[in-house]
Amino acid sequence: MEPLVAQSELADGEMHACQVNGVDVLLCRVDGEYYAVADRCSHATQKLSVGRLRGHEVTCPLHGARFDVRDGRCLAAPASRPIKTFPVTLEGGKVNVTVTEEDKPARPQFGPLN
Ligand code: FES
Repeated sequence: MEPLVAQSELADGEMHACQVNGVDVLLCRVDGEYYAVADRCSHATQKLSVGRLRGHEVTCPLHGARFDVRDGRCLAAPASRPIKTFPVTLEGGKVNVTVTEEDKPARPQFGPLN
């Protein structure tokens, strides 16, 4: 597990897009707390890092779905499914995010057509 950023690099209300273990992660800081969610809207896979963070809500720039970065739940259509969240730990002034093999998105399966 590598530290993503120093705590001081992210101000309240800011987001930081990064890759952890091959997974696109969006790190958010709200009221001094850090949250990590998948940087991918559950509606049509738009990157949420180019959206807007207001309080605990991140808004997808493509069609306006909103998600709570604390638990990933969907707050507004057109998305209906939550986004994945990841554990965040703070150590020595650094922010770490844990992404396991199970967190990696499934690759599309290609095979012979029947
Ligand atoms: S891709 Fe995010 S709301 Fe459609």
